[in-house]
Amino acid sequence: MTDLDTLVSKARADIAAAADLTALDTLRVGLLGKKGDISLLMKTLGEMGPEERKSFGQRINVVRDEVSAALDARKIVLEESALEARLAAETIDVTLPIRPEAEGRIHPISQTIDEIVAIFGNMGFAVAEGPDIEDDFHNFTALNFPPDHPARQMHDTFFLPEKADGSRMLLRTHTSPVQVRTMLSQKPPIRVIIPGRTYRCDSDMTHTPMFHQVEGLVIDEKTNMSHLKGCLIEFVRTFFEIDDVPVRFRPSFFPFTEPSAEVDIGCSRAGGELKIGAGADWLEILGCGMVHPNVLKNCGIDPDKYQGFAFGMGIERIAMLKYGIPDLRTFFESDLRWLKHYGFVPLDVPTLAGGLAR
Ligand code: DAH
Repeated sequence: MTDLDTLVSKARADIAAAADLTALDTLRVGLLGKKGDISLLMKTLGEMGPEERKSFGQRINVVRDEVSAALDARKIVLEESALEARLAAETIDVTLPIRPEAEGRIHPISQTIDEIVAIFGNMGFAVAEGPDIEDDFHNFTALNFPPDHPARQMHDTFFLPEKADGSRMLLRTHTSPVQVRTMLSQKPPIRVIIPGRTYRCDSDMTHTPMFHQVEGLVIDEKTNMSHLKGCLIEFVRTFFEIDDVPVRFRPSFFPFTEPSAEVDIGCSRAGGELKIGAGADWLEILGCGMVHPNVLKNCGIDPDKYQGFAFGMGIERIAMLKYGIPDLRTFFESDLRWLKHYGFVPLDVPTLAGGLAR
């Protein structure tokens, strides 16, 4: 056996025995690298006579190609087994039990807002927001409340201390001021819902000083009362997940809408238990109407060109109805036992496709 034969058989044995890619790379450097065995042999060609150089040169080229091919082949094998090992290590055993549920809960108000946003979002509404601390203009004047109108008193407003100019800021009594802010800052077509906190100086079994509303506003050139009805009926049926829940529009009054209506849903109170759906009774859930031309004017929108509808509803109220929560005040007591009972699992995000609530 010549030196070359020995070198080749040793190289083959080493390559076959290389346990991983690092070991293989060390071998490659040792054989074919600048100072590798084969490279060094090639350098000796220069010292040989022409005949010897020719035959040795041919042989060493063959050897180099063989070794290089063996290294490449081994590399593929090692890469494949490295990948297999990784895949095996990363397999997920889908039969393992799931991790225990996270401890925290989503508050029913947050859950209800998420559900409302999912439903109206699906109808193409965007979400708008405004400040909790408002001025008289946005909360009342722009919404067509005349200066001494009794409706202002009915709102039991919380006022902030008087400013130097005699004006007073206030805690918004409804989400309607955000209608004004939206119309002042956007051009029609407008299609928004506005969930948020509202405040009134009132506290008893059915009122808390802070509560939540969601406002809706649609302004376009031809939006009419039938759109309002269709939109709200669709909302009520999707939200309560009852396809044939009766919905009734009853004439009413609000300064900022004309005509105005209140919406009632059918229910039964048989045996002292309130059930949403067909029954002998009605339950009011929201106020709505066609936006008053004065409101459009106050917001810089031409009432001869544009019209639209608005609605406002109490979030606690519909949450209580949907989830059978009997007492309003418990919403804000921060009682962990209550939250554990009435709250929602954080990862069950409401969507129309996946279900609103589980
Ligand atoms: N802002 C009214 C309230 O708090 C509710 C309301 C009624 C809002 C009719 C509206 C509407 O947008 O059109 O009592």
